[in-house]
Amino acid sequence: MKLNQIKQLSKTKYLPIIRPESQKIVCQILQAGNVKRILEIGTFYGYSGSVMLLSSPNAHLITIEKDAQNAEIAMQTFVDEKLVDRVRLIQEDALVALEKLVLQGEKFDFIFLDGAKGQYYKYFAYIKSLLEVGGTLVADDVDFHGYMIQNQVKHKHRTIVNNLKKFIKLVTDDESFESKILNIEDGLLIARKTK
Ligand SMILES: C[S@@+](CC[C@H](N)C(=O)[O-])C[C@H]1O[C@@H](n2cnc3c(N)ncnc32)[C@H](O)[C@@H]1O
Repeated sequence: MKLNQIKQLSKTKYLPIIRPESQKIVCQILQAGNVKRILEIGTFYGYSGSVMLLSSPNAHLITIEKDAQNAEIAMQTFVDEKLVDRVRLIQEDALVALEKLVLQGEKFDFIFLDGAKGQYYKYFAYIKSLLEVGGTLVADDVDFHGYMIQNQVKHKHRTIVNNLKKFIKLVTDDESFESKILNIEDGLLIARKTK
């Protein structure tokens, strides 16, 4: 799919693609850092992956998606946007894929975390080791539709909320990172690895 088709479709049907303000900030960070190696967790239809590559002409992307149908649509998006030469899509569960990337000695200067929110905390040790010093981690949806600040969280959301809190604490307590949370859209955590 072309990006404008995905955008068009998102007007009639909910699609979990990056929101405009968050997209703008991600692209600003990529351009300011002259980023070359991007890792994305949660490809979906390849929307944010394509947007990131279009804003950073010298960058390559590794993107992880466990759902086969989403991965297939995403590959078509990268083909349609003529970005396929700069993309490696790994169709696998993120935890498994991240462990392999660490073993392969891969390094990234930007990581966009946008997969299953309740799993973020399990990814943190891998992300920390995959990120170069000076690189940036951006995690989307850390406000989780406002549930993070509710006193009475519905049972069905409680585990995700607790796991997201665990993730946020891991990042913000880690002395290797300088982090902040922007309360825009669904909440964006930005953490720069400083040592
Ligand atoms: C919010 S969407 C990603 C949106 C995309 N980054 C964008 O902005 O265009 C999250 C994606 O993560 C995928 N996902 C969920 N759990 C996953 C897991 N454990 N491993 C890999 N991908 C996963 C979902 O199938 C979904 O496509």
